[in-house]
Amino acid sequence: MVDAPDSKSGEGNFVRVRVSPALPIDLIMKKKPSLTSIFSLFATGITIVTNGNKKSEYFGCTINSFTSVSLDPAMFLFCLGNYNKYLKTFKLDSPLNLNFLSMSQKKLSNKFASDVDKRWINTNYSIAKNKVPFFKESLGLIEGKVYKKVKSGDHTIIICKINDFYKMTPKKPLIYYKSTYQTI
Ligand SMILES: Cc1cc2nc3c(=O)[nH]c(=O)nc-3n(C[C@H](O)[C@H](O)[C@H](O)COP(=O)(O)O)c2cc1C
Repeated sequence: MVDAPDSKSGEGNFVRVRVSPALPIDLIMKKKPSLTSIFSLFATGITIVTNGNKKSEYFGCTINSFTSVSLDPAMFLFCLGNYNKYLKTFKLDSPLNLNFLSMSQKKLSNKFASDVDKRWINTNYSIAKNKVPFFKESLGLIEGKVYKKVKSGDHTIIICKINDFYKMTPKKPLIYYKSTYQTI
């Protein structure tokens, strides 16, 4: 019960009203959701992280765990699954690029989340100052370097320092929400 202003009897008077508690819908439905379905309620942008500075060593992976960390020094982080056999290629101080994807790069996002041996086949890319590939159709590009790796559960947090950054194609962003692509 809470006290609420009484609109009938005039200003300054209060009446007691019953308020139903705001229960999460899952408690009402008596159904426990999966953790991934909860994480998927957080809408994110999509990036492709790339590394390797020789064609034979190029790696790229679709990532939505990007987070900006610090402005001074300029830093960001992302998380990569410990199962990822390319995790070890993100050595301390090694260069990498982060491509913020636009709506027109949906196919690229799918490609870089699928068969690792096919990701660079028939893919248009350019080479940045740090010799790491990037995609010029992206909204923006960050050139960075691995600063720290922190194993956390089944993923590793890769914290990076930013060396340079560019705005590229002004398009609508590719958004990931409830495990499907969206835009704004
Ligand atoms: C939209 C989207 C976001 C993703 N975000 C991540 C992520 O943040 N970290 C991660 O390890 N894998 C993420 N993945 C999965 C990877 O892209 C990839 O499919 C998986 O890691 C297997 O990659 P591998 O073949 O390089 O081992 C994401 C996939 C999609 C489609």
